[in-house]
Amino acid sequence: MKILVLGPGAREHAIVKALLSETEQHEVVCAPGNAGIAAAGVETPALAYTDPAAVLDFVRERGFELVVIGPEAPLVAGVADPLREAGVPVFGPNQAAAALEGSKAFAKRIMAEANVPTGRASRVTDVEAGARVLNEFGAPYVVKADGLAAGKGVLVTEDRAAALDHIATWAPHGEVLIEEFLDGQEVSLFFFADGHNVRPLSPAQDYKRIFDGDEGPNTGGMGAYSPLPWVADDFVQQITDTVALPTVRQLETEGTPFVGLLYCGLIVTAAGVRVIEFNARFGDPETQVVLPRMTSALSEYLLASAEGRLAELPDPSFSNDVAVVVVLASEGYPGDVTTGRPVIGISDNGELSGAEFAQTHLVHAATTRDESGRWIATGGRVLGVVARGESFAVARERAYAGIDSLSLEGGQHRTDIAKRVA
Ligand code: AMP
Ligand code: GLY
Repeated sequence: MKILVLGPGAREHAIVKALLSETEQHEVVCAPGNAGIAAAGVETPALAYTDPAAVLDFVRERGFELVVIGPEAPLVAGVADPLREAGVPVFGPNQAAAALEGSKAFAKRIMAEANVPTGRASRVTDVEAGARVLNEFGAPYVVKADGLAAGKGVLVTEDRAAALDHIATWAPHGEVLIEEFLDGQEVSLFFFADGHNVRPLSPAQDYKRIFDGDEGPNTGGMGAYSPLPWVADDFVQQITDTVALPTVRQLETEGTPFVGLLYCGLIVTAAGVRVIEFNARFGDPETQVVLPRMTSALSEYLLASAEGRLAELPDPSFSNDVAVVVVLASEGYPGDVTTGRPVIGISDNGELSGAEFAQTHLVHAATTRDESGRWIATGGRVLGVVARGESFAVARERAYAGIDSLSLEGGQHRTDIAKRVA
């Protein structure tokens, strides 16, 4: 198949790797991609990938048979809409359905209509009303900007003054959501969705905070592991029945069918599972540990979703092997990041070199190569080291051996990824 993957990051790198690992040989292009994806021999044309007209032109010109939209920005910008209208199979929801991620207020309304379990929430537009709701809900306080805020919109804090500050910052940009604090382990569970049916992937856990022990500010995700040995046997079935399917059916009923990846961000509380958020695309970095474990062909599920044919396929299968990803970030992340520094230890093919890294691979998030061929960090999250193994102890050891073999001045990584399961 001729497949176009849209997006610049590590998630797209993981998707491309999964497509290239299938028995069937595909022609995969990733736009704009990044230097790590290019080093794997994949074409990475420059493309204004959040511009619907530019993407449609490119797809027509090149005749892709499937378009996979990686990040939220092109979805929220409506890149899927004209492609779908033109009859191109596209994995990724239309703009209206992407509001499930793009607007927290929309997501809360859909959940209420579909009886999906979630935390109590109140919307406010000014600080006075915000202060009243903070008092009502009590600490810890959870304050969220509505709309996409590049991971900076959510504050969870015991500090009432900081919560009020956050409300004051975001209220002028629109509505602010104050939520009940949900206490428990977080789970990311992905579903392929074809507008009517869903098929579950294998659950993963993301580490959102920058420092060990879940300290410090939220990030885009500093590591992840899959599967989750501590969830109930019927966990995936339960979330399919109580969260994913009702949500997809509600969107279908409202005339905004969801075709793509439904990301359920969940917290397992003492009172049961609650949804904290939906995303309309694969999670980053969870995808990096979920897709390598998938033994069914990814492209079949992407295409069947795009064509409304998931009912024809069984649930996808996953290996019993586990996977761990540890993210290497630049100095200053998630605040003001220092970029432009060399990353030592990456081969020309974008991977770690050495037989000891056979079960380990790299996913690039923000790298480039300079004139002399050195790998240079260009962003906050630079790359991830992904390791497989028959146990978490083994996979962790491999992932951290990989991290230790790299050097980046001021580089940061967490040392406790998957520790709780090893
Ligand atoms: P979100 O962008 O909504 O996923 O929020 C980012 C992170 O903030 C989540 O992954 C949680 O760790 C935390 N969080 C969000 N909402 C809540 C909540 N209601 N209770 C506790 N933690 C939350
Ligand atoms: N890992 C969190 C996200 O993709 O939103």
